[in-house]
Amino acid sequence: MIKLINPHKSRYILNVESKKFFIETYGCQMNFADTEIVQSIMTERGMKPADDAEAADIIFINTCSIRDNAERKVWDRLKYFKSLKTKKHQDKVVGVLGCMAERIREKFLEEKKLVDLVVGPDAYRDIPRLLAEVEDGRKAVNVLLSLEETYADITPVRVTGNGVTSFVSIMRGCDNMCSFCVVPFTRGRERSRSADSIIQEIQQLSDNGYKEVTVLGQNVNSYKADGVSFADLMYRASMVNPEMRVRFSTSHPKDFPDELLHVINERPNICNYIHIPAQSGSSEVLKRMRRPYTREEYLELIDHMTNLIPGVSLSTDIITGFCGETEKQHLETMSLMAQVRYDLAYMFAYSERERTLAHRKYEDDIPEEIKKRRLSEIIDQQMNIQEENNLKEVGKRHLVLVENTSKRNENQLSGRTDTNKMVVFDRLDFVRGDYVEVEITGSTSATLFAKPIRKSSIQEFYAAETTALPTV
Ligand code: 5AD
Ligand code: SF4
Repeated sequence: MIKLINPHKSRYILNVESKKFFIETYGCQMNFADTEIVQSIMTERGMKPADDAEAADIIFINTCSIRDNAERKVWDRLKYFKSLKTKKHQDKVVGVLGCMAERIREKFLEEKKLVDLVVGPDAYRDIPRLLAEVEDGRKAVNVLLSLEETYADITPVRVTGNGVTSFVSIMRGCDNMCSFCVVPFTRGRERSRSADSIIQEIQQLSDNGYKEVTVLGQNVNSYKADGVSFADLMYRASMVNPEMRVRFSTSHPKDFPDELLHVINERPNICNYIHIPAQSGSSEVLKRMRRPYTREEYLELIDHMTNLIPGVSLSTDIITGFCGETEKQHLETMSLMAQVRYDLAYMFAYSERERTLAHRKYEDDIPEEIKKRRLSEIIDQQMNIQEENNLKEVGKRHLVLVENTSKRNENQLSGRTDTNKMVVFDRLDFVRGDYVEVEITGSTSATLFAKPIRKSSIQEFYAAETTALPTV
């Protein structure tokens, strides 16, 4: 059920019911989940999704501020959207949502005059009122951050997507204040959504045929609502439907609870994949980044995880060229990555962001070409590691959840293993949403190729590994 709480609802009789909207989304998975919340708010008001920006009366761009290049893309798109406001389409509305709305605020309206509406991540319920203001000929802004807003009562509308996998946002904001990161300023304080509302949403997804959920937060390990910890929540989430996979992202290395590792081990439908960003392999750099762990502590945690969950797949985020990073410190990052041998890594050159501690305290002193060179060194090394890791998969059996038709060949399907590796295999009679047991026959650094064996299920496939499945 879609429920929209707007205390002012009756005051704003909008002339928008027949309007079509289009939302273009940039940035992290949280942003994509937020777009679904906005879609719910819009469709609740009778507006219909358009196929593209050209066909829409209202164009929203849901933005990301994490690095400068993410913002530059948005400026380019806004210029393009403005060009769509031709004489015939003067009343097209263009709005900026998300992190950039929070960061640039009124300046969007004043300086650039590219947009009519600016809405921060905690103000989406206010969109109908703001649209009414725009209709009245005013420019509209709401960038208030909230200590409570979790949109818990709004069921996201999933107009795009594959109908098999979905995101569920379990918390908002971040209190960690890593010195390089703008997120605490754009998304505000950390707050957790009630466990009951999360479980209800997962149940609805399961009822609608979804086979996988990824629960999202900037740091899911610090989830806490009404005495429910993240490990408790994952346990409850995994009990909704034993044939539904549950993933989670992102975990901060500072507080990874053992309890969670045990829950992952115990529940076959919680995926053996942990995204645990190191950011750097140098203790000194980590200190300047305000990441409260050392290289050694991080490596100990990784050891502990791989001992407790044999075969667990790990991924990381890495920043190269952070303020003051020496060549030796860069090599420490290289060696940490070589030691952990991640299955996946998201690697970035440091991009200075206003308001952050690093901006105030340190100089962005690594020249762009050095940042780029270091970045390409870690990328090259990581590609080799992934290639080697994936080669070791050849001959192994995996359970793959079919998500899509392969991009390269329409007679093939693609899906992921429990360990989050992309697998491509012949379509035969399999369809989206099937769990297929496959044998890996080939690999690259990014993809595994496989021979399909048979349709299976989580309980069937893992029964061989676990003598007794927990009773559900
Ligand atoms: N520059 C480069 N990368 C950044 N990240 C966050 N802030 C910055 C920045 N200023 C990266 C971190 C984080 C990921 C989501 O984005 O690695 O984990
Ligand atoms: Fe940014 Fe650090 Fe929070 Fe992640 S944990 S969102 S990197 S401040």
